[in-house]
Amino acid sequence: MVRESSRRRTFAVISHPDAGKSTLTEALALHARVIGTAGATNGKENRRETVSDWMQMEKDRGISISSTALQFAYRDTVINLLDTPGHADFSEDTYRVLAAVDCAVMLVDAAKGLETQTMKLFEVCRARNLPIITVINKWDRPGLDPLALMDEITERTGLTPMPLTWAVGIAGDFRGVWDLQKDEYVHFERQNSGASLAKEEHLSPEDALAREGDVWEDSLGEAELVIDGREFDRDAFLNAKATPILFSSAALNFGVKQILDALVDLAPSASAREDKDGGLRPVEAPFSGFVFKVQAGMNKAHRDHVAFIRVCSGIFERGMVVTHSNTGKTFATKYAQHLFGREREVIDQAYPGDVVGLVNASALRVGDSLYVEEPVEYPPIPFFSPEHFRVARSKDPSRYKQFRRGIDQLEHEGIIQVLRSDRRGDQAPVLAAVGPMQFEVVEDRMTQDFNAPMRYEQLSYSLARLTTADAAEILSNVHGAEVLVRTDGAYVAVFNDVWALRRVEKNHPEVSLTVIGTES
Ligand code: G4P
Repeated sequence: MVRESSRRRTFAVISHPDAGKSTLTEALALHARVIGTAGATNGKENRRETVSDWMQMEKDRGISISSTALQFAYRDTVINLLDTPGHADFSEDTYRVLAAVDCAVMLVDAAKGLETQTMKLFEVCRARNLPIITVINKWDRPGLDPLALMDEITERTGLTPMPLTWAVGIAGDFRGVWDLQKDEYVHFERQNSGASLAKEEHLSPEDALAREGDVWEDSLGEAELVIDGREFDRDAFLNAKATPILFSSAALNFGVKQILDALVDLAPSASAREDKDGGLRPVEAPFSGFVFKVQAGMNKAHRDHVAFIRVCSGIFERGMVVTHSNTGKTFATKYAQHLFGREREVIDQAYPGDVVGLVNASALRVGDSLYVEEPVEYPPIPFFSPEHFRVARSKDPSRYKQFRRGIDQLEHEGIIQVLRSDRRGDQAPVLAAVGPMQFEVVEDRMTQDFNAPMRYEQLSYSLARLTTADAAEILSNVHGAEVLVRTDGAYVAVFNDVWALRRVEKNHPEVSLTVIGTES
């Protein structure tokens, strides 16, 4: 048991859209020999068919909306890579995924440095104290000066960069990397435009100098400036004080094996996890886990509902009867699966760090805990504060039942928050989102999956606070504010803007207003 969990590495890649996350995901899987040739790089269309993205909308838009868990074996470890949506509108989804990993790879486009979405996701990692490995990608293209990139990382993240590999050749002339741990030059040779492994040649520093001359010396000189005589400090990485740095070209498969090796050698394995009350549940305790994602309609042929569980302790065995901590009810996990992009595979056993997809466990919601024998409840995954609000209505009143069922289901999956009030009535729920693209996902799913076409009415609210029942009456005549009720019974006050909120705070100090979860 302990041996199996110590073999697990569970991580997610965080990046700004277009930094190369999908390309890197495939390159990693290619190195681990999960998917023969990664159909990579000759066009998004082909590639996206191959691995992690599956929803039609994702393909149409070329963005990644839903999370997928990929599992592959590398060296003597089992790597679980949880995919995160890159688009800012889905940061709530990403936040949930980050609650389920032990480490993050921060992927940075060499030409762009730390972009806004990367920084937002970095903040989430920092709040969770997650160790971060930084990868400077697209080094095969012209980009920024590597020392300027290191300065930016230090200044904006507060993490000390600790190079594990350093690029040989400026951005746009990527010849190989200096592996600082082994003190050797790894020279890469481009193959087949990236669809197969790059050829690697390992040279001693003397041979590297003979081969690359000044380019080698320049590279060494830069890396030494960054290291500044310090030893690589694994504890500083595990305590989220420093970040190992690697250089790559995911598209050409340069430097990708080194990323996998860093994950195996340095990243934390699955270990004891903190519960709601701050106690630690050791990996060798009986099975437990929590739901970090719920998704329906993943497979058109199956029309099903999958709850993704991160295993925290014990061995999960298919068919085992587990207890749902929220309801105290037990259920048998007959349909448990691994998910690899669109492919599914029945899973018989899973260990701490693994992700299990439970099919048609429709009572489960994001944040719920499951266990056998010894009860445990993991900390809830906080809500994001919604910033966009629209009224949803069924286009066809005769399909109201389907409309209602669809909205309930999408809320259950955590795709959107639903707010209601007596004044608006049940036919016109208010949908609350972190990013407007969530509304498009809802509209699309309502038509495709529930055959309940719908329309929206825009609302001008942009801010929400938790409040109490008595606020509904007090704010009923206040312009630019309204009180609605969330499905879990919480009262939510919504405001046009920060001025409307301040007016209420000033004129009605008796109204309790608290920030909801995390402001995006
Ligand atoms: P994302 O998931 O983070 O959004 O990024 P994605 O992998 O889709 O990559 C975005 C674009 O960057 C793609 O180009 C991809 O080929 C390219 N790319 C990714 N990694 C590298 C790299 O290391 N070097 C270079 N030169 N390019 C890279 P695209 O034009 O949008 O699509 P495609 O037609 O090339 O597939």
